[in-house]
Amino acid sequence: MKFFVDTAEVAEIADLASSGLVDGVTTNPSLVAKSGRRFLEVVEEICRLVDGPVSAEVTATDVDGMLREGRRLARIAPNVCVKVPLTWDGLKACRALSSEGTPVNVTLCFSPAQALLAAKAGATFVSPFVGRLDDVGADGLGLIRDIVEIYRAYPRTIRTEVLVASVRTPPHVVAAAKLGADVATMPPALLRQLVHHPLTDKGLAAFLKDWERTGQAIA
Ligand code: G3P
Repeated sequence: MKFFVDTAEVAEIADLASSGLVDGVTTNPSLVAKSGRRFLEVVEEICRLVDGPVSAEVTATDVDGMLREGRRLARIAPNVCVKVPLTWDGLKACRALSSEGTPVNVTLCFSPAQALLAAKAGATFVSPFVGRLDDVGADGLGLIRDIVEIYRAYPRTIRTEVLVASVRTPPHVVAAAKLGADVATMPPALLRQLVHHPLTDKGLAAFLKDWERTGQAIA
């Protein structure tokens, strides 16, 4: 499973990317606004920090505006992945951009039917939002299960990767991996949280305490 970082905070991306465990970055207009940075500048900086796909979202809602903005974003760097919303205009823009060789991440996906349309439009990634479905009492992981099942039924024609978004907890990540999703994008804090387990900390402390008693050093 690929791990993407879901943020426009450059310092966070730089720190996590140094681990070698970051496969890409996703941003959206809310995350860019939160960063306080100029959009095109921060995307260019992020694209230099990671080799993998960097999702940058259009803000136009009409297909011509999405194409204009998407082509502008694609010119920033080779690893830009243009993000479009799952609307008819977004699907039309996805079809056109993907036919030009531009990777497209179709976002704000909340149903299997929407995910099927994103695949038919040639999306590189589809972003189903697990947490926001859970927020309204729906089954966010159930959506991932349905999409993976549908996509696996058409291995020769569907190349779209399932990029699980709105990921809020370590169980979300584990469940998405067990379901066979291709990517999980998550906030920096959640990615860091994945490494922690109290028994790991306890076991390491015991190893070091016993080692200290030997008076030895590895040199
Ligand atoms: O990539 C989409 C993600 O940023 C949305 O997360 O927690 O706002 O639903 P959230």
